[in-house]
Amino acid sequence: MPQVCTNNSHKNGAKKTDMNNDESYTYENLSETAEFLLTRVPFKPSIGIICGSGMGAYWNEGCLADALENKKEFPYEIIPHFPVSTVPGHMGKLVFGYLSGIPVVCMQGRFHYYEGYPLWKCAMPVRVMKLIGVSHLIASNAAGGLNDKFKIGDIMLVKDHINMLGFAGNNPLKGPNDERFGPRFPPMNKAYNRELIDQGKKVARELGMGGMVHEGTYTCLGGPNFETVAELRMLKMLGADAVGMSTVHEVITARHCDMTVLAFSLITNICITDYECHDKPNHEEVMDVGKMRQDTLKLFVKKLVEYIAQHNPQ
Ligand code: HPA
Repeated sequence: MPQVCTNNSHKNGAKKTDMNNDESYTYENLSETAEFLLTRVPFKPSIGIICGSGMGAYWNEGCLADALENKKEFPYEIIPHFPVSTVPGHMGKLVFGYLSGIPVVCMQGRFHYYEGYPLWKCAMPVRVMKLIGVSHLIASNAAGGLNDKFKIGDIMLVKDHINMLGFAGNNPLKGPNDERFGPRFPPMNKAYNRELIDQGKKVARELGMGGMVHEGTYTCLGGPNFETVAELRMLKMLGADAVGMSTVHEVITARHCDMTVLAFSLITNICITDYECHDKPNHEEVMDVGKMRQDTLKLFVKKLVEYIAQHNPQ
């Protein structure tokens, strides 16, 4: 049985905050959150995993977070300063545990811009991970496939991103910069670790899923609506291979504080770029494909976690 933690004592003085959206977290706020977690978990993970729509954000049974050993679960609503998931059916918990004997922390469900949260708030758990000692981040998402070679159920290892929200000046690092997290002007080339992308392909081949793994460029739009045909055609022309509503702001935040990042997309639908096509993308198919692929993804992530623990790629 997982140990589900509660927070009725606020022993360390940290309280849940009800922040308004203009007011960013301070280093001290996030240190309180980290301290809250560290004093309740008897181990310190150096690998963080964001489980998105394709990996158990909406269900528990058989998902990666559920498969951890010696679990300790923290529903987001009991963690000081944490936002809460507002998407109906979203799990919304931080799960600490062991995968292949390696300590990890999983976000089961994430925060999205379309929920009304500013990007710095969506990405705050990444900074909390950093403060508890996480050096490597594995971020997963569900995405629509734009690349003609992609099929439903394929995996795209993210080699780069196009930050569409950033084009309009919306960035998780916007506002005063705290150098304790990272520099004012962080580079974003090489955001996605090459060694881990190559290892991802190798693992996929070893697991007999080489044919369904690609490399590509991910782009994030704000959502919550799926894209128009004209928007998708434009994104394709710009060089995007997959489109979703997450991950980019988390990766920017992770790279700002010098984490090593691997991200992958589960292609849950093929984007409709033809006006004559009468299919409609929908959230149910996104979840169905996630469930269909969850055992494969679990194994895939487990192998990558083992690699990171052994080789510590930088
Ligand atoms: N568009 C945006 N986000 C998504 C999609 C999509 O087609 N599929 C899964 N998440």
